[in-house]
Amino acid sequence: MDTRIIKIDDVAECGRELMTAGRVLRYGGIVAFPTETVYGLGANGFDEKACAHIYEVKGRPSDNPLILHVSGRDMVDTAVSHVTPMAEKLMAAFCPGPLTMILPRGKRVPDRITGGLDTVGIRMPDNDVARALIHSAGCPVAAPSANISGRPSPTTAESVLEDMDGRIPIILDGGPCRFGVESTIVDCTGEQGIVLRPGAITREMLEEVIGDVMIDPALSGADTVPRAPGMKYRHYAPKAPLTLIEGSPDKMADALRSEARRLIKEGHTVGIIASNESVHALSGIVPDELMASYGHQGDLRRIAAVLYEALRSFDRKPADVLLAEGTTDEGLGLAIMNRLHKASGFHSLHI
Ligand code: TXA
Ligand code: MG
Repeated sequence: MDTRIIKIDDVAECGRELMTAGRVLRYGGIVAFPTETVYGLGANGFDEKACAHIYEVKGRPSDNPLILHVSGRDMVDTAVSHVTPMAEKLMAAFCPGPLTMILPRGKRVPDRITGGLDTVGIRMPDNDVARALIHSAGCPVAAPSANISGRPSPTTAESVLEDMDGRIPIILDGGPCRFGVESTIVDCTGEQGIVLRPGAITREMLEEVIGDVMIDPALSGADTVPRAPGMKYRHYAPKAPLTLIEGSPDKMADALRSEARRLIKEGHTVGIIASNESVHALSGIVPDELMASYGHQGDLRRIAAVLYEALRSFDRKPADVLLAEGTTDEGLGLAIMNRLHKASGFHSLHI
């Protein structure tokens, strides 16, 4: 199959392309599309066969449910049995936006999507191309991130092509994604909100709207089973093993330097993913082409936006071990650290 990339610069001017892509979705095909978080691999969310095809294309374990993307409030009601008061508040505050709400599943949602759960994830993306596409398809669009299972999620159309070339007919190219990490997932079915996956809607932002939230304890360790089935897999991972360096920003450059020197002495080719400050301090020790700088220390928006492309870039480089600089776990830092922990398989060095 030929994979066609269709550039969408302006939604208003690309009505014909969006209509074609919407039709492909409605009649059972797969279309990759941009969202404000990462690129998604979309299929008609009410079409069991189309959704089964997504699992195949991604190589995704079948017990890992898909989330449904909607273009507006009316579509939410077609996919859930009811919207809980907590979800109403969250929708008013954050939708469209990088949030997925877990809600009681509606009758039309096939088993294939929910992995047999009686809940379903609902998300209204804040991206013109995504919403125009879903609107044109006229149905909720099931969409996991558009990567091969286990790899870092793609945040550009080029990265989607890298994983999906020859596997799907259409990739809509809307440019790089604004946030760069997947949506915050909140279980809205109980008394208290539970964050199942941290993202750009932070704990602090959620608590202003729905009061205290719980963070799924499984997110901070490798040994408990998380409530979002997908969070249990090794994920976001480059091919070379990665060690996460955690601790005070002042000590980072020194710690990375001495760890890199130690590994080089052992004969390793070391790759570095770190702040501009640390990358600067490592020059002369690690070659420039084996270092990816993710922005200034503490610039969380920037770190989130470039992190996955930095991880993916090492699959094209000869490094056989990777060191990554950690950041704070407050605000958006919680999402960044969660992805780095998973990319490292929870292998950290505390300084
Ligand atoms: O930002 C995002 O959410 C992106 C873009 C494309 O929208 N999508 C995305 O989908 O990250 P995916 O499939 O890669 O991740 C969805 C996560 C998985 O970890 C899955 O286990 C969890 O959501 N999930 C889906 N339905 C669930 C449910 N009913 N209960 C608990 N977790 C659920
Ligand atoms: Mg994913």
